[in-house]
Amino acid sequence: MNNIHNLSVAGEDLLAEINEYQHGRAVATFEVRNPADGALIANVSDMGSQDARIAIFEAKAAFPAWSGRSALDRSDLLRRWYDLIIENQHALSELLTLEQGKPLAEALNEVLYGARFIEWYAEEAKRAYGETIPSNSPDKRCLTIRQAIGVVGAITPWNFPSAMITRKVSPALAAGCTIVVKPAEDTPLSALALQLLAEKAGIPSGVLNVVTTSRPAEVGEVFTAHPDIRKISFTGSTAVGKKLMRQCADTLKKLSLELGGNSPFIVFDDADIDACIEGAIATKFRNAGQACVATNRIYVQSGIRERFENRLAAAIEGLSIGAGREKGVRIGPMINAAAVDKVMSLVADASAKGARILRGGNLHSCGGQFFEPTLICDATHDMNVSNTEIFGPVAAVYAFETEAEVVSMANDTPYGLAAYLWTRDIGRAFRVSEALEYGMVGVNEVLSSNPATPFGGVKESGIGREGSRHGLDEYLEIKYVALGGIGTLG
Ligand code: SIN
Repeated sequence: MNNIHNLSVAGEDLLAEINEYQHGRAVATFEVRNPADGALIANVSDMGSQDARIAIFEAKAAFPAWSGRSALDRSDLLRRWYDLIIENQHALSELLTLEQGKPLAEALNEVLYGARFIEWYAEEAKRAYGETIPSNSPDKRCLTIRQAIGVVGAITPWNFPSAMITRKVSPALAAGCTIVVKPAEDTPLSALALQLLAEKAGIPSGVLNVVTTSRPAEVGEVFTAHPDIRKISFTGSTAVGKKLMRQCADTLKKLSLELGGNSPFIVFDDADIDACIEGAIATKFRNAGQACVATNRIYVQSGIRERFENRLAAAIEGLSIGAGREKGVRIGPMINAAAVDKVMSLVADASAKGARILRGGNLHSCGGQFFEPTLICDATHDMNVSNTEIFGPVAAVYAFETEAEVVSMANDTPYGLAAYLWTRDIGRAFRVSEALEYGMVGVNEVLSSNPATPFGGVKESGIGREGSRHGLDEYLEIKYVALGGIGTLG
C-alpha cells in the first residue's frame, strides 16, 4: 500500500491509466470523491449534450461492421474482455470500493458477478436463433431472423457501478448492437476501467462508448430524443424511469427498465430460523441496504416474532462498520449526505408513530456518511418506512397472523421487484410464491442473481429482463422473411 487511497500497486496503476485515458476528452471535469472520507480520487471529464451526440455518432458509425461480424467473432472478443476483467479483478474491486464505499469483499463479488454476464453472453451470442414456420402456401417459405436493434443508450446506477454495466453491455454487444453508456456521476471510474479493458481486449473503437457527466438529465435528454438510439436500458429509480419512458415516446424506443423495489421478506412460524436470519442480514445489509432487491419490509408470523427480533438484533450487533478497505468490515458508508438524511427521517417518522428502535437509529461514530445498522420493531403500514424504498441499513419488522393477510400486505405496493419467503411447508411455498405480485421470488433463498436467470420486476418496478436467454431478446428485433417462387419438383 503506497498512496493516500491505500491502493495496491495494481489498483494505483489502474487509476493512473484511467486518468491518462481521460486526456483529450471534454475540457471540463468533475470530482469523484471517496464516500468513506470525502477524499478526492479523480477528476473525470464532464461531458455534455454535444459529447453525447458525438458518442452516439461514433456508435452509429461502428454499428454496421460490428453487427456484420460473425457471432463467433463477437463471442471471442467478449471472452477476451471477460479474461482481462478476471486478470484485473483485484484492482477493479479496489477502485469500486474507493468510489462507491462497499466492503472490498462485496466489491470483489460484484466484479466477478458482473464479469460472469460477459462470459455468459459471449456464449449466448452464438444462439440468437431464428425459426422456420410451416408455410401457408406450397410455393412459399416463412422464416424469422433475429437482428441487432441498433445503437443502445444505457444509463446505470451508482449502487452496482460495475455489474449493472456488464449486465447491459454484454447482451447488447453479443446481439450485435453498439452502445453508449452513461454511468452515475458518483461512480464513473468503474465504467471507465471497463471501457479501457474492452479496448485492450480488441473491441473496436465506437462499439462501447462511455459518457461521464455531472449533468445526467442533460445527457438523458439527448439519449431519449436522439433518433439514432433505438433502445434505452435504464437501472435506477421508478421516478426517473417514468420520466425516461415519457421522453422516449416521440421516437418510440424499445425500453428496458429495472426500477425501484419494496421487497417483502416473509417469515412463517415454521421457518428455519438460522437460515432466515442469515437471509435477512444478507438481503437487508448488503451494500449498506443500497440495492433495489434489498429487503424493505420484514413480516414475521406472531408465533415466532419475538424470537426472530431478538435473533436479528444479535446478528446486527455483530456487523462491523467502517471504510470498505478495512478488514472484516460488513457495512460501509452510504453514498452521499442526502441518502443519510433520508434514512434518518424514515427512522424519526417510524419512532414518532410508535415503532420501537431495538438497535441503532443514529449516525455511526465513524462519522460522515456512516449510519448504524438499525432494527425497527412494531412497524405498521402508516409509517413512511413501509411505502418508501429505504435504500439504507434499516430493517423494519411487521407482525402478521395468516397467509392470506401477509400476501395482501406484501402486495400492497406499486412495486413488484423481489420478494422472499421462509417456510418448510412445500404447499405454502407454492401457494404464496404464486400469489406474490413480484418478478422474482426467493423461497428459503436470498435470490442471489446470476447470469443464467432472469432479473426484473413487474408493476412499477420495471419492464423487461436482464440475464438469461431472455436478456438477449431485449437487444434483438424479429424480422419475418417470406420467400416466394419456390415452385414444385420438376
Ligand atoms: C440491484 O439491486 O439493482 C441489483 C442487485 C443485484 O444484481 O443483485
